Amino acid sequence: MKRPIAYLAGVGKYAPPRIMKNAEFAELGLETDDAWIVQRTGIRQRHVAAPHETNRTMSAAAARIAMERAGVTPGELDVIALGTASPDRLLPSTAVDLQAELGATRAAAFDVMAACSSFLYGLIIAEGLMQSGSADTALVVGTEKLTTIVDWKDRSTCVLFGDGAGAAVLKRATGGAGILSTFMRSDGRLAELLYRPSGGASRPFDAQVLQERSFYVKMEGREVFKHAVRSMSEAADRALDGAKLTGEDIDLMIPHQANVRIIEATAKHARIPMDKVYVNVDRYGNTSSASVAIALEEALTSGRIVPGMTVLLVAFGAGFTWASLVIRF
Ligand code: ACO
Repeated sequence: MKRPIAYLAGVGKYAPPRIMKNAEFAELGLETDDAWIVQRTGIRQRHVAAPHETNRTMSAAAARIAMERAGVTPGELDVIALGTASPDRLLPSTAVDLQAELGATRAAAFDVMAACSSFLYGLIIAEGLMQSGSADTALVVGTEKLTTIVDWKDRSTCVLFGDGAGAAVLKRATGGAGILSTFMRSDGRLAELLYRPSGGASRPFDAQVLQERSFYVKMEGREVFKHAVRSMSEAADRALDGAKLTGEDIDLMIPHQANVRIIEATAKHARIPMDKVYVNVDRYGNTSSASVAIALEEALTSGRIVPGMTVLLVAFGAGFTWASLVIRF
């Protein structure tokens, strides 16, 4: 096990106040119901951002809380790594909007586009920049306004997703607490199992795209499910191996919150009982890049994580991408 280079000095989150319950989909004319959604996914509700709640405002709200808890001012940030699959604009990055919003004038800001794995990719990239000496203090954020990129006429996708943001400040570790091991992987051959077919440079927006609704998220749910279980299980194994630990050594696993059945299968594979797994997918749905960040904030502020605990973070997303970290608090 390596000596930690970085530790999590503070976390924050933002969830839009508007909560949408499963029953509301039927009111929109979709043939679905609460029982189907709960049984297949574990989701009971999700937060939905209002027009004025953008990734810029949501990520800034989460970041300000994380920085205050870490005792870090915007001027001290060297790096801002922001994960999102639903950027406010296609150019420039959402990270520079967050930088401007915070007044973090010294930072290098960039987006991480690894879908639901983006927050974990961001933590790993930031740790690497600290290891190379390029940064001492980093802000890592996951933020999503997914309700603007899902097709509200497609019951197989729109019931799954929600909006929100989570943030963490990384500082240079001085003791035994911090990131103990990391793992990241991707497989672009599987990109079209979960993607937005149009709206980018290969298929620019036009009248036909609008008519086809092909700028919205398309997903082969069953295939994604199988790969998610396989890849999250591999990611859990690899981060545990890297830290020379087993599932029995883990005090809490915080998985990407997409579907409670995927979470249960991953926990079973890693031999981590469900009472040591943090689940909030019932309250948030899948918030992609923000999911692990929001769950981490809740676990820390509710006392589920206390100093000395060893925590496994695991994520999987479009790409496909998957990643994991073991962190000692
Ligand atoms: N309400 C009612 N019926 C529905 C709904 C709905 N909301 N959505 C789909 N159905 C129907 C389908 O049309 C299908 O009907 P048919 O048999 O008449 O054709 C039936 O339910 C079964 O559909 P499946 O897709 O086979 O259902 P499944 O049990 O696989 O559940 C689900 C679908 C929940 C999407 C599941 O496949 C899943 O969770 N996949 C993983 C998705 C995921 O987690 N994606 C994100 C991970 S990566 C990331 O976060 C970016």
